[in-house]
Amino acid sequence: MCGIVGYIGQDKATPFLIEGLSKLEYRGYDSAGIAVYNGETIRVEKSLGRLEVLEQKIKGNEPEGSIGVGHTRWATHGRPSDRNSHPHTDCTGKFVVVHNGIIENFMSLKEMLIEKGHTFRSETDTEVVAHLLEEVYEEGELLEDTVRKVLNMVEGSYALVIMSEHDTGKIVCAKQDNPLVIGLGEGENFIASDIPAIIQRTRRTYILSDGEMAVVKSDSVWVYNRDGVPITKKVFEVNWDAEAAEKGGYEHFMIKEIYEQPKAIRETMSARLAKDGSGISLNELKWTKHDLADIKKIFIVACGTAYHAGVVGKYYIEKLARIPVEVDIASEFRYRSPLVDKDTLAIVISQSGETSDTLAALKEVKAMGARTLAVTNVVGSSIAREADNVLYTWAGPEIAVASTKAYTTQLIMMFMLAVYMGQLNGKVAPERAAELVEALKQVPTQIHEMLEDVEPIKTFATKYGFNEDVFFVGRSLDYAVALEGSLKLKEISYIHAEAYAAGELKHGTLALIVEGIPVIALATQEDIYDKTVNNIKEIKARDAVVIGIALEGDKNIAKYVDHTIFVPRTNSLLAPLLAVIPLQLLAYYAAITRGCDVDKPRNLAKSVTVE
Ligand code: M6R
Repeated sequence: MCGIVGYIGQDKATPFLIEGLSKLEYRGYDSAGIAVYNGETIRVEKSLGRLEVLEQKIKGNEPEGSIGVGHTRWATHGRPSDRNSHPHTDCTGKFVVVHNGIIENFMSLKEMLIEKGHTFRSETDTEVVAHLLEEVYEEGELLEDTVRKVLNMVEGSYALVIMSEHDTGKIVCAKQDNPLVIGLGEGENFIASDIPAIIQRTRRTYILSDGEMAVVKSDSVWVYNRDGVPITKKVFEVNWDAEAAEKGGYEHFMIKEIYEQPKAIRETMSARLAKDGSGISLNELKWTKHDLADIKKIFIVACGTAYHAGVVGKYYIEKLARIPVEVDIASEFRYRSPLVDKDTLAIVISQSGETSDTLAALKEVKAMGARTLAVTNVVGSSIAREADNVLYTWAGPEIAVASTKAYTTQLIMMFMLAVYMGQLNGKVAPERAAELVEALKQVPTQIHEMLEDVEPIKTFATKYGFNEDVFFVGRSLDYAVALEGSLKLKEISYIHAEAYAAGELKHGTLALIVEGIPVIALATQEDIYDKTVNNIKEIKARDAVVIGIALEGDKNIAKYVDHTIFVPRTNSLLAPLLAVIPLQLLAYYAAITRGCDVDKPRNLAKSVTVE
C-alpha cells in the first residue's frame, strides 16, 4: 500500500507531484521519490523519510519538466531506505517505474536478469520491472508494447506507472488488484493510485479496472485491455470532498479497512503458497527440520488485538505442528520470570512493530537466549529490527485505532506459520497441507461475499442498541474470536463487553445473565459444537437475547438462539477469519448508532509506545 502520482501536460510536473504525494501520505510514508523528464533525460530524486525530507532535498533545484511520476512508500520487500524508495530504474536509467502491490515471482525474475548481466540497486520486487523493460525492449518500439510484454512475465498484484526516454511524451499505466485512476484535465492529465491526490485539479476521472492499461498523453488518454484492444471508458465524476476521498468514499477508516481485508489477506498469503499448491513456503525463515527440532517450547507475546491473534496462533501451532505454546500479554510476560532458554522460540506479534511492552518483552527474551520471530505489519519497525526473523503481514497502513485488517492478516500469518512448521517436522502430511491451502485460498472470496450484505448486522446493532453489557461466548477457537469481538465493541462503542469461554459461564458469570441481556454465541467449531449448544441452552434458559454465529447450513442452531448470523462453511481452523467479520461490523455499527468517534476512540492511541 503505497501512493502513486503522475503528471503530463504543459505545466511543471514537480509541484503537482509533491502536492499529490502529500495527499497520499496516509497510504505510506517511509520514503518518497519523484522522476521528471526534462525533454532530454529523466531525473530521479528520492529519499528515506517523510515527503518533507524529499522537499528539502530538492528545494531550490527542483526537477524541471512537464512529465513526471512520484511515489510515497510503505515498505513491503526491502526495508525503508533511499535505495529502496521508488521510482526505480533499469541499468541505463531510461526506464522509470513506480509500483504499488507485490510482484510475486520477482525472485526468479531477478535471478534470470542477474544472469543476463543486469545490476540491481535495491532489495525491492519493483526493480525487476524496470530491468525487464530494458531486457525485452526492441529499438523503436512503443512503450505500451514493451510494457505489455513485461506484464506477461510478472505475476502478482500491481498498479504500475512507467515512463521512458525511449518513447517520450507519454506515461503508461497498468492495473491489477491495486487502484489506479486517471484524472482528466484540459491539455494535461493526472495519474494517481487514489482520488485524494487529484481532486484539487480535476473531478473527471477514468477508474481503471483489473487487466487494463492506459497510455496517457497531455491531450489524450487511451485505455486498452491486456491484448491491446481499445476500451471505451465512462467518465466517473468524483463528488466526494477531500476528507471522504482519503477514506476512499467510506465514512470512516475503520469500515474502509474492514472492506480491505480480502485484499490484505490475499497479499499476505499469495507469495507464500507453494506454486504447485502443495503447502506453505516461508522463504523468509529458511528453517530446516533440525532448527525446528531444537524448539521445545514457544511463547507468543503481544498486546490487545495482536494478543488475540496470538491466542488463535497457539491453537494453530499446537494442533498442526504439535509444539507446546504459551500465549502471554506482553506487559505481564516481562514481570513473571518466564522459563526461557535457548530451546525456546518467542513469537512477538505487533501491527505497528513499535508497541513498547511488546518490544521490551522481545528484548528481554532475546537476552535470555531465546530465538525470536516477529510478525509485524511495518517493515523496518523497531520490533522487526530487533527480532532474529520477521514475517511481514502485508495489510498496508492501518489508520483506524481499532485493528481489523491487521488482525485477520495476523491470523493468516499464524496459520501459514503453523502449517509450515507442521510440514517441516512431519506433523502435517503433504495431503493435509494441500487440503489446508485449498481452504485458505477461499478465505478472501468468502470474506468478500460476507461484506456484500451487511444490512442484517446493521439491524442487530441498531435494534439491540447494545446499551450496557454484552457477552461474547464460545469454545476453543470460538472463544479466541469472542475475545476479539468483545474488545472491538468496547474500544469503539464504549459498551461494557466481556468474552467468556462458554463452558466457564456456570462457574460464576452465569449470575449476570438475565432477561434481555445480549449474548453473542459463536458456534463454528464442529468438534465441540454439541457442548457449545448446551452452554447456549443454559444462557437461553435465563431469557438472554442470543445472537448465534454459525456455519452456513447449520439447521440446528435456530432452535436455541433468537437470531443467527451465518458465515461461509470452511475448515474449522479458518473459521475465526470469517466469524470475526460480523463482530467487527457489529462493533462498527453499534459505535455509529451511539455517535462515537469510530476512528479515534477516547483515551486510545494507534501505537502505544509507552509502558
Ligand atoms: O501495534 P500493535 O499490534 O503492537 O498494537 C497492539 C495493541 O495496542 C492493539 O492491537 C490494540 O489493542 C488495538 N487498537 C485494538 O483494536
